[in-house]
Amino acid sequence: MKPCGKDEAAPAAGDPWKECFEVAVQLALRAGQIIKKALTEDKDVSTKTSAADLVTDTDHLVENLIISELRTQFPSHRFIAEESAASGSKCVLTAHPTWIIDPIDGTCNFVHRFPTVAVSIGFAVNQELEFGVIYHCTEERLYTGQRGRGAFCNGQRLWASRETDLSKALVLTEIGPKRDPATLKLFLSNMERLLHAKAHGVRVIGSSTLALCHLAAGAADAYYQFGLHCWDLAAATVIIREAGGIVIDTSEWSLRAPERWQCS
Ligand code: IPD
Repeated sequence: MKPCGKDEAAPAAGDPWKECFEVAVQLALRAGQIIKKALTEDKDVSTKTSAADLVTDTDHLVENLIISELRTQFPSHRFIAEESAASGSKCVLTAHPTWIIDPIDGTCNFVHRFPTVAVSIGFAVNQELEFGVIYHCTEERLYTGQRGRGAFCNGQRLWASRETDLSKALVLTEIGPKRDPATLKLFLSNMERLLHAKAHGVRVIGSSTLALCHLAAGAADAYYQFGLHCWDLAAATVIIREAGGIVIDTSEWSLRAPERWQCS
């Protein structure tokens, strides 16, 4: 396992998406301040697909802020964002520059004031992910990955774990919002299998995006989840790949198969 190094971020010379990346960083930091402040305040909470699938006024506020700022600066760009999709917007990934946004990943944590929440901004062109920016709002950790330019957390280079032995691994997963008997049975049986295989531990932190950042940082060895959405995964995928990790989809989910995206 290669630990977090001390290399400085490589200069982005010749990068056609440099300006977009820099704007994404500024917006993630700005959104993060709003989320951090709102964490301990009263919230307007609603449910979406299930009683455990929560959304707040802050999710909407932050998503609207990010999209309106980006639209002003990059009028021809397209958007795929969690709350817009929940309100019926289609998730269509074309060759156009497209921003893939989760305004608050870990909304359930946010509602409960559990301080593991992030804003996630991914960017794809020609259906290829170019960069990802994720900001852990309470720990003030900025995770970034740019295709071919490495992955960083607050300027420190990230390297994913190289552990392949499950009995020496720390594994991350998330429950997702479904609570039907079949989903719960699958979730619990997978936990049981991992523990029978003597994994060092299994962690559920309530934010898939931040779990994936831990993976990129080598702070865990593997992550799995059923039913991830593209906005949970887009930014983190670039960060993990640039940290030397691997992202695979056993159900053939891919940026190139938008018909498989779950948008409700
Ligand atoms: C959710 C969280 C949760 C995961 C869900 C995600 P949200 O995102 O990351 O940990 O289990 O699958 O949808 O709703 O908080 O943005």
